[in-house]
Parts: sequence; C-alpha cells; structure tokens
Amino acid sequence: MSGLTRRAALGVLGTAAAAGVGVPLGQNLVSASDSTGVLRSSGLPLPQRFARPLPIPRVLAPSSTDATTDYYEITAREASVELVPGVRTAIWGYEGTFPGPTLVSRSGRRTVVRHRNELAVPEVVHLHGGHTPAEHDGYPTDLLLPRGMAVPPPAMSGMDMPGMTNPDPRAVIAREVREYVYPLNQRATTLWYHDHRMGFTGPGVWRGLFGLHLVRDDEEDALGLPTGERDLPLMITDRAFAADGSLRYPALDPTGLHTPGVSGDFGAGVLGDVILVNGAPWPVAEVAPATYRLRLLNASNARRYRLALRPGPAGGNGFAQIGTEGGLLAAPIHHDSIDIAPAQRYDVLVDFGRFAPGQEVTLANLFGTGATADVMRFRVTGGTRDSMPVPARLSNVETLDPARSRVTREFNLRNWKRQGRPEWRISGRGFDPARAEATPRLGDVEVWRLVSDFHHPVHLHLAHFQVVSRDGRDPGPFDHGWKDTIDLLPNQPAEIVMRFDDYRGRFVFHCHNLEHEDMAMMSTMVVS
Ligand code: C2O
Ligand code: CU
Ligand code: CU
Repeated sequence: MSGLTRRAALGVLGTAAAAGVGVPLGQNLVSASDSTGVLRSSGLPLPQRFARPLPIPRVLAPSSTDATTDYYEITAREASVELVPGVRTAIWGYEGTFPGPTLVSRSGRRTVVRHRNELAVPEVVHLHGGHTPAEHDGYPTDLLLPRGMAVPPPAMSGMDMPGMTNPDPRAVIAREVREYVYPLNQRATTLWYHDHRMGFTGPGVWRGLFGLHLVRDDEEDALGLPTGERDLPLMITDRAFAADGSLRYPALDPTGLHTPGVSGDFGAGVLGDVILVNGAPWPVAEVAPATYRLRLLNASNARRYRLALRPGPAGGNGFAQIGTEGGLLAAPIHHDSIDIAPAQRYDVLVDFGRFAPGQEVTLANLFGTGATADVMRFRVTGGTRDSMPVPARLSNVETLDPARSRVTREFNLRNWKRQGRPEWRISGRGFDPARAEATPRLGDVEVWRLVSDFHHPVHLHLAHFQVVSRDGRDPGPFDHGWKDTIDLLPNQPAEIVMRFDDYRGRFVFHCHNLEHEDMAMMSTMVVS
C-alpha cells in the first residue's frame, strides 16, 4: 500500500475508534502490503525440504454403480497421521487422511456421496466448483451432526451478526449420515470438496477436511493430455505445527463448537510456516523428461502464492496453462509464473524434457520468504525425452456478453470492527441466511462489480463466471476462462459476468480467505 493510502486507512481507524460502531477500518489488520494474513509459526524445527516423496491421494473406488450413477461413501473422522517426519499429528480427515481421497467422475454421470460424520463437531460438505442443486451444495447452516448430537450448537446457526436468526429456520439438519447428490452436468475440470461449516470452515480445512474431485469428459480425452502418473494433482497448503506435532491454529475456541473466529490480528488470515503439497512438507517428485499435467490447487486458508520454476527452462514460459476452475481454456496461455489465491485452480502443462537429466527444478513461491519461498521440487530423471506439443486449440469456450446483463450489482468488501471485534463484511453487512443480497432469476446474466481495499479471493457457488475487467482495463493474465474464484486485489475493482443456470434456490458467495469467510464475509443469493 502506498504511504498515502496507509495514512488514509489510519485516519479512518481513528474515526472508527472514536465512534465505537461499525465503520470500515481499511487495512489496519495487516501491515505488510502483499501479505494476506498473519504468520503462525511452528514450535518444532521445520522439516527438511525436498526429502519426502510427493504423495498422491488415493482415488476412491465407488461402493457401487448403476446405469446412471456412481455411489461413494466417505467418513469424516479424527486420525493420527505423520505429516512431518517423526511426529504424529491429530487431524480431521475424510476417510481419516490429510487430504482426503480423490473422487473421479465422468461429466453428466450422477455422483452420490454418502457422508458419515464421526467427528466430534458438525460438518457441512461443499463441492467447490460443482454446478450443484441448492439442497446438495453445502449451505453453511445445513449441518450434518455427529452421532449423539441432537441439536446444533447455537454458535453454528446464530453467529453474532445483524439480522441472523437463531437457528436459521431454513437450515436442513441431518444426523450422522447424509447423501450429497451431484449431477455434474459440467465440463471436465478440477473440483475440490471441503468442510463449509458456518463460522468454522477455517479450522476445519486447516485440520484436513478437504480433497479433490476430478471431472473428466470426452472433449478433454480427445486432446490426449498426459494421464496416469503424468497427471499430477498438487494441493498446496501452509500449516503450523506445535512442538508436540499438533496443528497450531489460533482458534478462539479449540473445541470448534461454541465460538467461531481466531484471536487478535489473525482475523486478517492465518498463514503457516510449513508448505505442504498433498499433505507432505516440501516434497520431491521424480519426473521423466516428459510433459506433465499439473493440477494446481491452492487449498490454503489465506496464503497467496506466485508459483515459478527455478531454474526456469531455457526460453522461459515454463507453464502452459490449459485450464482453470471451470475447465479448459480456448487456447493455452504461457506463463513464467502463476499467481494463485486460495481456492483457485490452474491446470498447466510442464515439459520436463526442456531440462537436463538429473536437473533439480524447484516449484518456488516468489511471494514467500525463507522456507515459504519453496513449495516442492522435481527431480528430472534420465531416459528418452517424451515431450508433447501443447495443443493450439483446447476447447470451444462460450464468451458471455456483459451487454446481455439484466442487472449490475456492486459489492464492496471491507474490514469492519464492531464492538471491538474484527469482522469482514460485504457491502457493510455480515452474513445473514435470511437476507438475499442478489436475487437473479433462472437464466439471467448479471455483471457484478467487486470493490475492495484488500486482497479477497471472491468465490461464487453455482455459477462460474468470466472476468470482464480489472481496474477498468482488460482482465489480468490469470483471469481467463471460466472461473469460480477471482483474486480480487486492493484498490482494483473487478467486473465479472455470470449466468444463473439450471438450479433455483439459496446459495452463498463469499471470500475464500477462510478467516474472512468465518468472520462474516459471506452473503446469500437466491435464484428464483
Ligand atoms: Cu470452497 Cu463456498 O467454498
Ligand atoms: Cu464453492
Ligand atoms: Cu477476504
């Protein structure tokens, strides 16, 4: 932030302190301009980098299939696993792993997932990027209670927010087991599923409640992209560990039952000092001198990364981006580095045939310092070069015309302080399931203008969108294709266009910095 903006923010802070009521505060929670949170440091020596082999989460087999549908069963439970070599870490995991198993679906084939909750707390499962009917989308108060819990704890249905009823009268409460039905009438892409519990998504995901859900289709198959062990999912997270190996998260209420939120300045976002990929700290992967498909997912609570290959290949452009959250791009885009905000996905081809055999190539984070400047490493083996030309055309991508928009809405994402407590708000309001901040009709095209003075990865459920502009100019280098999360930057308003297709009902849109989301930066939209 410029000195001027900083002073302006502090000026507002003074006014807010004097008034003692809900007034926007600017960026007072964060001092470093490019930081998206506050660092939680580990109490154990940081694990050695590039020592652990890259784990690949197991692909879950369906428990049964029929002509139209694949059925899966997933149990969320506590487990003790070895994330950092030599120590045990208590996690909450789908099937007891960090991350959970990967689901693979065929576009247009129904997937039914029967989730069982064996945690000590309620859960809500959301398929992020899924084009899903409202009742199966994981609305944050649609709780799945664990066995023995008869009613939801008040905190999960009635946070201290204006207008919020207690409990949300429309919440659908399930006990122990519930089925989520996903039609998956959508393009091939990399989705992920994660806990979406009202007020407690940050700690839930931090402890391990996330996993991948891939969708494949014929269009993608026809491209002959790398498959099998050359199709690598890379789920990047940062975490902090206590000396005893437990995950360190600055929760106000470690039971995860009564008081949502984090202590003090961590409300800006919680950053860890250990970078894990697929649950292993700074892992290493042996790769052939061949073209690989890397499915990059930033599953971190708050950290943004600028990913680059170090050294880069001669001639640059180490990444050929072929897709993003909503599937394939029309044509590849070549990058030296990729900015990835929480919840975003970038599907890239990397040709390790451009490196010498034996070369070590680090996936670096140019936004990091010290150990967080590294993510993982590739070690290029010998053997015959097997490079694949990047297809010049990837997909027919419809362009949504903003001129067809029926309404333009503006949302202002700001930090507020109310009764001494930091809150994040959308257009001045906290989360309220009873109040629709957007009311599109089925089939409507809308333009949304998003404004903020801070970093917010803004995510819409149900409708994928296209970026129309940033700061009145063309979309940025990472904005192309169908998105479900935009990396909104300070003082650069962005416009996005979307169409509300197929499903009516109540959905959310929110900031995907999970600490912001848990502290009210979420709104309801109702499609009618
Ligand atoms: Cu990945 Cu509503 O979230
Ligand atoms: Cu989502
Ligand atoms: Cu935010």
